[in-house]
Amino acid sequence: MEKVSVNGISLAYERRGTGTPLLLAHGFPLDHSTWEALAAQLETDFELIMPDLRGFGQSDAPAGAYTVEQMAGDLNELLKALKIPQAYIAGHSMGGYIALAFARAHPEQVLGLGLIGSQATPDSPEAKAGRYATVQKLSQEGVKVLAGMAEKLSANPDHAPFFLEIILSQRATGMMGALQAMAERPDSGPFLASAKFPVVLVHGLADALIPHERARQIKSLLPGAMLSELAGIGHSPALEAPVETAQALRKLTEKNSSQ
Ligand code: MLT
Repeated sequence: MEKVSVNGISLAYERRGTGTPLLLAHGFPLDHSTWEALAAQLETDFELIMPDLRGFGQSDAPAGAYTVEQMAGDLNELLKALKIPQAYIAGHSMGGYIALAFARAHPEQVLGLGLIGSQATPDSPEAKAGRYATVQKLSQEGVKVLAGMAEKLSANPDHAPFFLEIILSQRATGMMGALQAMAERPDSGPFLASAKFPVVLVHGLADALIPHERARQIKSLLPGAMLSELAGIGHSPALEAPVETAQALRKLTEKNSSQ
């Protein structure tokens, strides 16, 4: 991976393919390698920029709470370093929260937004409390406390060992920082309702982590959003159904050229 210095940390990223840039933000507690199957589908349509977000993979994982705005700020610095003034941006789950924060801060740079297995609503008080309890456990026991997520990230049990390996290679500081960013993220509903760029939603109907109703909720706020619901697919459509996910994301460009 290549590395760039942004906001005082080293951010690792993979860049491949040709076309208009598409920045892909991975989910929690994962890294850029979860885009591999989708990247193979999209590399002839887009120039793909696939970072390891602050706290994850080969990027630095400073101690302390992160915010989605800060994580989006890292991506803005990355695009600046690559001299990319405008891009499509898509995020998986937590990556969607960061893509939304990016779009809120830099709407003029966003050609289109993809939310994959994600949501616009903030945490409920219970979900927030659960995140802080996990932060506490992580500080005491390390990343193995997240191992149970490996089985929930896909509806296909064959994917669990792949996810487990990524989870166990993470650093507790990064996971703790990102959990706090997710716990404190704002409601993106009102912003999305007035989005001027095309929006694609991809959601597995068998998602065990974020119910598919959350994507329908966005669609009801923004009827122009293009929703692809995938039967039998869980929380990771990019890995579980790369062909269908790629097809859905290509619609961002069709919509753009017809506007
Ligand atoms: C993710 O897959 O990124 C997380 O499950 C999102 C979340 O915990 O809200």
